[in-house]
Amino acid sequence: MSFRLQPTAPPHPNRCQLFGPGSRIELFEKMATSAADVINLDLEDSVAPSDKDQARKNVISATHNVGWGTKTLSVRINGLDTPYWYRDVVDLLEQSSERLDQIMIPKVGCAADVYAVDALVTAIETAKNRDKRINFEIIIESAAGISNVEEIAGSSPRLTAMSLGAADFAASMGMQTTGIGGTQENYYMQHGSTQYWSDPWHWAQAAIVAACRTHGVLPVDGPFGDFSDDAGFIAQSRRSATLGMVGKWAIHPKQIRLANEVFTPSQAAVDEARDILAAMAQAKQNGEGATVFKGRLVDIASIKQAEVIVRQFELINGA
Ligand code: COA
Ligand code: MG
Repeated sequence: MSFRLQPTAPPHPNRCQLFGPGSRIELFEKMATSAADVINLDLEDSVAPSDKDQARKNVISATHNVGWGTKTLSVRINGLDTPYWYRDVVDLLEQSSERLDQIMIPKVGCAADVYAVDALVTAIETAKNRDKRINFEIIIESAAGISNVEEIAGSSPRLTAMSLGAADFAASMGMQTTGIGGTQENYYMQHGSTQYWSDPWHWAQAAIVAACRTHGVLPVDGPFGDFSDDAGFIAQSRRSATLGMVGKWAIHPKQIRLANEVFTPSQAAVDEARDILAAMAQAKQNGEGATVFKGRLVDIASIKQAEVIVRQFELINGA
């Protein structure tokens, strides 16, 4: 056990991040009144090159004019490999209202990518006397990003969240799929005449969770493209939640309720976690470090596991 304590992740609910193109202003009010915890106004890949300037203006104006309530408000800027990103950062930091909580940096490949944006943001914040420090979230969606995921997770104190972007990730890795996340027909084991599907996203997700938890950053599952497949979305979300991710993107409003359901611990899970904590409190009184709960071993590690569920529930319910 390291003597360094694991940092806690930022204490805001992050069950669902709803995306909408910065070019579609008619969606902004709908996004603001949705049940998503985080709003991502997009300047990147859902906006055509000819719309980039107008989308940037729309988004800046929406930080002033739309009532975003208690949601985390984030804008996805363009990647550092484009000619747009510096203007995104400069205009957002110079012109947006202080309602803007964070910017999302896509296609991060190394810690220095985050450093570069941090340097620019820090200078503008100081020059403009902005009171609120802008946070960052980033997307791991390239071979370089996943290879350098740990240094990226520790790259800036501004970093609050990190998502896996399945589509760009698959392209960068040379994966033979055009689907955005979820089950891949050709990724299976064959035993006799039976096929068992495996999860090609698993290792990248686990690497992201480990890097995030090491540095106190929220790990988030990215988009699931087939928004007509509710069961597929739920299955993907449940796998992500089981691995330690705290939420998932919605690229269509119908995915919000599904994400909220999966990433809110169920009452049954919370009741069971509280019962484990009570059983362990009793064990401690008896001078024992371990006890039997419903026929199975629980010990001091079980307290930490149960606390993850109870804390997440209380956070979501504002307790
Ligand atoms: N946020 C809020 N509301 C949305 C929305 C969004 N992202 N996308 C659609 N809606 C609204 C529509 O305006 C419509 O509202 P109405 O019932 O009041 O008319 C309703 O939800 C149903 O929309 P639908 O007609 O099914 O979708 P669409 O054809 O208008 O748009 C997409 C479909 C996928 C193009 C659109 O959802 C979208 O742009 N998603 C985000 C894409 C994105 O940001 N990608 C980048 C990250 S991967
Ligand atoms: Mg992408």
